[in-house]
Amino acid sequence: MKRMAEPFKIKMVEPLRMISREEREKALIASGYNLFSLKSDDVYIDLLTDSGTGAMSDQQWAGMMLGDEAYAGSRNFIHLREAVRDIIGYPFVIPTHQGRGAEQVLFPLIIKSGQHVISNWHFDTTRAHVDFSGGKAIDVVTKEAFDTTTPYPFKGNFDLGKLERTILEKGPDNVGMIIITITNNSAGGQPVSMENIREVSRIAKKYRIFTVIDAARFAENAYFIKRREAGYENHLIINIIREMFSYADALTMSAKKDALVNIGGMIAFCDNQAELFELAQSMVVPFEGFPTYGGLAGRDMEALARGLYEGIDEHYLEYRIHQVEYLGARLREGGVPIQFPTGGHAVFVDARKMLPHIPSSQFPAQVLANELYLETGVRSVEIGSLLMGRDAKTGEQLASPLELLRLTIPRRVYTYNHMDVIADGLIVVKNRASRLKGLTFDYEPKVLRHFTARLKPV
Ligand code: F0G
Repeated sequence: MKRMAEPFKIKMVEPLRMISREEREKALIASGYNLFSLKSDDVYIDLLTDSGTGAMSDQQWAGMMLGDEAYAGSRNFIHLREAVRDIIGYPFVIPTHQGRGAEQVLFPLIIKSGQHVISNWHFDTTRAHVDFSGGKAIDVVTKEAFDTTTPYPFKGNFDLGKLERTILEKGPDNVGMIIITITNNSAGGQPVSMENIREVSRIAKKYRIFTVIDAARFAENAYFIKRREAGYENHLIINIIREMFSYADALTMSAKKDALVNIGGMIAFCDNQAELFELAQSMVVPFEGFPTYGGLAGRDMEALARGLYEGIDEHYLEYRIHQVEYLGARLREGGVPIQFPTGGHAVFVDARKMLPHIPSSQFPAQVLANELYLETGVRSVEIGSLLMGRDAKTGEQLASPLELLRLTIPRRVYTYNHMDVIADGLIVVKNRASRLKGLTFDYEPKVLRHFTARLKPV
């Protein structure tokens, strides 16, 4: 696949530390075979997440100098509110320190204890806040998401039949909320089609269920709609975005992804949710701060207001998606099995296909992550059984439906040459895959074990 030239030039550089294989071996052992415990100085190319790891532009940095640090009514808040009204079409905006801050404030206002919440796929923190609010999270993603090899343009979609059946089975009054996650992170950064969003909205209205968009990667989702969905090829990205949000009542957003800032998030409501907005404004105060700053400095809100526009620029989006696609294409050429077609923010490697001799209970995707780190100093992240944890009641180790290794690409940070280093490294690892051994626990924390667990080879 041909490379595409970046639609920016570089004004400032951050040197990378070139670490030797010997140093990496030492660092991996010291980390307990858990890449979350590495010092970032021991990492050459960091693909742990695309969250808060993007590069801001000169315009955003210039905006940082225009921070109005007033406790109330900061002019940067007004810029942010204007940007959200313009791009998304929601008039009521509350900043938060990041996505989970938005979830923490909004969810308890909507979910009644014991109610179910249905999503195409809840992100981890989203699921946690559904739990904390007394709700029960149910995922109803389309079955194509679990078949990594067969191409399907919208593997992030809801299974609409399953959605409606679940509502009827639980009873509409027992469903507190529907969450549309765009793009679907856990399925591989896979997009949700406009048709699917529209249908989810129709079903939600039919049963009078509140609908929220988890908007972390809304711009990438809009770009995929333009590229893959019939009837949208000539639409402006901004019009696709406005249509997507017209189908929901509210949004929570981690602005650390598509809005191109290192910290930030928000809650926003459509124009007929004034009452809920007022309620959320009073709830945000004890958790995040006064409703015109919500845990952010004025300068952060200015960078965010500007980032929202840069993140929906079509030339930028074309380059962004192309770079991820390029990495996916290089891996496929080298025989590495991936979730295909590639998604927006990451390439997801199918570790179960690559290491069929390692059972889920020995964490094949973690084995792969560690081996890739040893080979090239690339830090990636396991999205599989290690992350999934144990059954809360029986304590049994659950087998994740997919054992994936996520190569998450920060925005505007790495070049196509870095993509080659990643691909070359993983192809070398693939060629010795059959000799790799599984992992077992040395120390297993009770909650969120993947962050601090210590492992050892079996
Ligand atoms: N929703 C989605 C779909 C996410 O991917 C994330 C974060 C959040 C909500 C929470 O936002 O981090 O700003 O509090 N995802 C990151 C990741 C952490 O690595 O995928 P946050």
